[in-house]
Amino acid sequence: MPYVGIGMQQRGSSLRSHRMVRAYAALLGGVLVSLFLVGLGKMQTDKGVPLPRQESLEEIQDQIGRALQDAIQGENIKTNLRAITREPHQAGTKANERVAKTIEKMYKDAGLQKVHTLTYDVLLSYPDWDRPNTVSIRNRAGRAVFTSKGVSEPILPDEQGAPHAGHQWLAYSAPGTVEGDIVYAHSGTPKDFERLKKMGIDATGKIVMMRYGEGFRGDKVAYAQQHGAAAAILFSDPAEVAKGARDDVYPKSVWMPSEGVQRGSIMKLNGDPLTPLYPAKPGAYKSKTIDEIKEDGIIPSIPALPISYDTAYEILSRMSGRPVPSDWQGNVNVTYRLGPGLRDGYKTVVDVKSSLETRHVHNVVGYLPGQDEEDRYVILGNHFDAWVYGSIDPNSGTAILAEVARAMVETTKNTTWKPARSIMFAAWDAEEYGLLGSTEFVEEFVSQLGSRAVAYLNMDCFAGNFSLNVNTIPSMRDLAIDVAKRIPNHLEEQVHLGRKTLYDTWARAFPGKDGQPDMQIPGGGSDHAGFLTFGGVPVIDFNMVNATRNSYPLYHTLFETPFLNEHLYDKADFAMHRTIGRYWAELARTLADSPVLPINVTRIAEEMGGNYVVELRKTLNTLPANPNLLEAKQQVDFLEKAAAKFLVKAQSFAEHAKHVREALPENPYDQRKLRGVNERIMMTERCFLNPRGAPGAPQNRHVLYSISEKDSYSGKIMAAVYDAIDDYVDSTDKKKAGRMVAEQISIIYHSVHCATNTLKHFF
Ligand SMILES: *[C@@H]1O[C@H](CO)[C@@H](O)[C@H](O)[C@H]1NC(C)=O
Ligand SMILES: *[C@@H]1O[C@H](CO)[C@@H](O)[C@H](O)[C@H]1NC(C)=O
Ligand SMILES: *[C@@H]1O[C@H](CO)[C@@H](O)[C@H](O)[C@H]1NC(C)=O
Ligand SMILES: *[C@@H]1O[C@H](CO)[C@@H](O)[C@H](O)[C@H]1NC(C)=O
Ligand SMILES: *[C@@H]1O[C@H](CO)[C@@H](O)[C@H](O)[C@H]1NC(C)=O
Repeated sequence: MPYVGIGMQQRGSSLRSHRMVRAYAALLGGVLVSLFLVGLGKMQTDKGVPLPRQESLEEIQDQIGRALQDAIQGENIKTNLRAITREPHQAGTKANERVAKTIEKMYKDAGLQKVHTLTYDVLLSYPDWDRPNTVSIRNRAGRAVFTSKGVSEPILPDEQGAPHAGHQWLAYSAPGTVEGDIVYAHSGTPKDFERLKKMGIDATGKIVMMRYGEGFRGDKVAYAQQHGAAAAILFSDPAEVAKGARDDVYPKSVWMPSEGVQRGSIMKLNGDPLTPLYPAKPGAYKSKTIDEIKEDGIIPSIPALPISYDTAYEILSRMSGRPVPSDWQGNVNVTYRLGPGLRDGYKTVVDVKSSLETRHVHNVVGYLPGQDEEDRYVILGNHFDAWVYGSIDPNSGTAILAEVARAMVETTKNTTWKPARSIMFAAWDAEEYGLLGSTEFVEEFVSQLGSRAVAYLNMDCFAGNFSLNVNTIPSMRDLAIDVAKRIPNHLEEQVHLGRKTLYDTWARAFPGKDGQPDMQIPGGGSDHAGFLTFGGVPVIDFNMVNATRNSYPLYHTLFETPFLNEHLYDKADFAMHRTIGRYWAELARTLADSPVLPINVTRIAEEMGGNYVVELRKTLNTLPANPNLLEAKQQVDFLEKAAAKFLVKAQSFAEHAKHVREALPENPYDQRKLRGVNERIMMTERCFLNPRGAPGAPQNRHVLYSISEKDSYSGKIMAAVYDAIDDYVDSTDKKKAGRMVAEQISIIYHSVHCATNTLKHFF
């Protein structure tokens, strides 16, 4: 079916009156538009509001959007959240299978179609639930003077009292008992380890203690191992997680109490590590062994465990050696020391029990089929596995997504709206372990996603309650902004200050360049990663944050249970949860219904010429002049010219797209032209996917946006080019390394050239 009943957005078109709409509908045998209007009329008269006389389809779209927003209910989200967070539910456990079933039922009850699960067999990791991990301190006689409990005690036993809920552990840690001397390596970054060495402290054979923050925990443990550590300890410093007064912590506030512990994975790869690049379908051949992934540094060979700041105090207060540099001192109430070792010859003992196990994981999916283009998908996703109860990470998102599904189906019933393109709902399993569920899915359907997925919209969890926060690629920024302008602000005090929409607070909280709010390139921390970096699908990853963007101290703790959502983060009756749902739904509806896809290829061209090329040239010019760099610089010249051409082409393409859209009411045959326009928009994005992947990282296929090798949480622009430049700097064979830089730049050039060709009518 053609695009009837949606779109025709521009003002001043001939589509202003019902007469014209009906004429158009009649022209196309368009049952849908007529029904659509009748349906709306009914809904309006039910509420006693008379139908406005003159409505453009743009106005009708606005009404659908509002109906959809109204349909999303905070009460339902609250109920969903309680149903999903009854028990701890790590991936691969029976409890998590029950959660998958609950979500499946929610999707079915909502009225989604083709609801089913997709199963993969992946490598997971568990502690010994009966024997907690511990860190202890022994005196010279070998007697323990302190042993950590290894479990956090529940503070609200009604919500947190399940057996084993308090277990403190890191997934994929090696098992083992290590007795030795401890050293302090601050945040465990490469810089920190370098500094430690300069201060004369050798980490070889030591137990390395590091604080959370400044990057991915798996990178910290890996760096410690590379520096010869025998074991690693991670702790949450009160400087980050308990900034208020000493007793102003959970359950009085959202700050971490003294026995809170952040759990998490320390695997350094996305997806099942034993079946890289291919889906881990049950029975699929495992191309890697556990020994191989240990050798490759994907999982550590040393034991590692997380501790509370109370336990950290026991260690820090006994440490010997010089005081740490002042910028390494944290807020545990003692002077931090570098070590090595404890005073009086005391020793530290790390005791970790853990096992690797291959188990089933289950993604749950369901659809709201598109009326006009069933084979184009707008995908909404969130994971559902948690470290403990997961009421924020991730089930705030899971509960909201199920309500978005319900509200969308309800809107298709109360009005005659049907999305033009299909909307797919996805609940991913095993995200916490390393984005396993979503990565395996992308690996299985990479070809179909490449040609049919319009966009992927990820919301993992909120991390604060003040402002919208959006990570996306340049072509999606305009959409992220337009939609935020249509969502009412959930904060009353902000509305009183004249900030009526979600956009108003966002723009003020995070001002960026070009008068747009600051949006960062999506990193690797959640399920959008595989879609973008392996599948080439445009993604938006969003959530709510504090003005500091860093306001989620109870992350991965036992204390993420519904009390936290209901009584600390969202007191106003789940207004914020609801707002997140509204934004998600409206993004999806806009992507599903806009006749011309709201993906702005001109922005890619602008960013390329105006920013990426400029930065690249600057970087090359800061290197000492060397004839071996001449080829690379010449490639930058080519790239610059190609980017300029791309920009001109993108601008004329935008004109073309506009004409096709405007011609629609008069010439329904232009439907085919419209489909052509949208295909080109999608394929322009795909030009930036290099099927060969980055050197040594075949899973990093996006040439512009990949996950940084140095920090798995952050996104990096043209990572392969900059890695080649880093290698050039370190290399003794400058000739070869210089050619490598040139080659990597030429790959970007080819992508830009591909984009220009894709937008052209004729070769
Ligand atoms: C849709 O219809 C149902 C059933 O009549 C009703 O309960 C619900 O409130 C309606 N929703 C909206 C948004 O009008
Ligand atoms: C320092 O912190 C520890 C552990 O939280 C506590 O036992 C001790 O009383 C504190 N000392 C002071 C002086 O506040
Ligand atoms: C988040 O911001 C609110 C309001 O600005 C503030 O009250 C609260 O302390 C902040 N929370 C954290 C954890 O930073
Ligand atoms: C927002 O979160 C902060 C904690 O970061 C809390 O103090 C505040 O009350 C919350 N606001 C609402 C409206 O729930
Ligand atoms: C697309 O981006 C161009 C270049 O920045 C901008 O001028 C234009 O307004 C954008 N189009 C839309 C529809 O946002």
